[in-house]
Amino acid sequence: MKILSLGSLNIDFVYSVGHICLEGETLSARALERKQGGKGLNQAAALARAGAPVFMAGCVGPDGDDLAETLARSGADVSYVRKIQEPSGSAMIQLADSGANSIVVYGGANRKVTPQMIDEVLSHFSPGDYILLQNEISCVEYAFRAAKARGMKLAFNPSPISEELFRYPLELADILILNELEGRSLAGIQSSSGEEILAALARRFPQAAVVLTLGEQGALYQDGRSRLFCPAQKVPVIDTTGAGDTFCGYFLACSMKGMPPEQALAMATQASALAIGTKGAADSIPSWAQVEAAAARPGR
Ligand code: RIB
Repeated sequence: MKILSLGSLNIDFVYSVGHICLEGETLSARALERKQGGKGLNQAAALARAGAPVFMAGCVGPDGDDLAETLARSGADVSYVRKIQEPSGSAMIQLADSGANSIVVYGGANRKVTPQMIDEVLSHFSPGDYILLQNEISCVEYAFRAAKARGMKLAFNPSPISEELFRYPLELADILILNELEGRSLAGIQSSSGEEILAALARRFPQAAVVLTLGEQGALYQDGRSRLFCPAQKVPVIDTTGAGDTFCGYFLACSMKGMPPEQALAMATQASALAIGTKGAADSIPSWAQVEAAAARPGR
């Protein structure tokens, strides 16, 4: 059983700022760094570092050689990453002193993924293999249908939320992994607690296992059999960028290893706690050995 991350690879431009820039404000950044990111790349890196047999598919431009190279160093197979003429996708990330972030993404090459490319990549996968999708590339709806037609298990991280996302056949997803903002949008409810969002999502998507991340509070899980809560650890926050991607990759990798959901949640929570203690998106994803060691530490 293997897993395909069909998604974005971005050049992240990270601006270190005192606070997130307000509407109408001009702000000086202390530093600007160029890093490797994109939800597809980050989640594939997390899967690889957690030991899952992961393949990355997507498009980069002539400026994006380091994206696939970095991911390959994490242990992912990058042979389905295509180099095209369009500039690579990019993200403008404001990283505040508090560790909070604000992200604007530009699709670039990520928006040049075609049905033909998806069909070609999927021809290398079999029923029972997993596909992991996010919402930063073109043809997501096509990928949903094509992957399910092949009998693959579909995990979806509906990020970022867009208008077109509401037209996707979300009822085909086997696993939904999302945060509270995304959960509220998908459930169509405004202000509500995590428990209420989870209950609404479970009613709306009864076929899916739903994993709802709650930031510093932890994560909730519900499937047809169980409803679980895993508290987050209290750790110093350096950079929250990519923490959700780390959670996503670790949760899926642990599920693929056959761990029950409570154990997969605990490992994913531990991995994202380590990720927020380090700067960067893909850079901050811990190895399996680091996560296991942290999980075994007394009093965690
Ligand atoms: O989830 C973090 C990621 O979101 C960043 O790496 C950025 O590229 C955007 O895709």
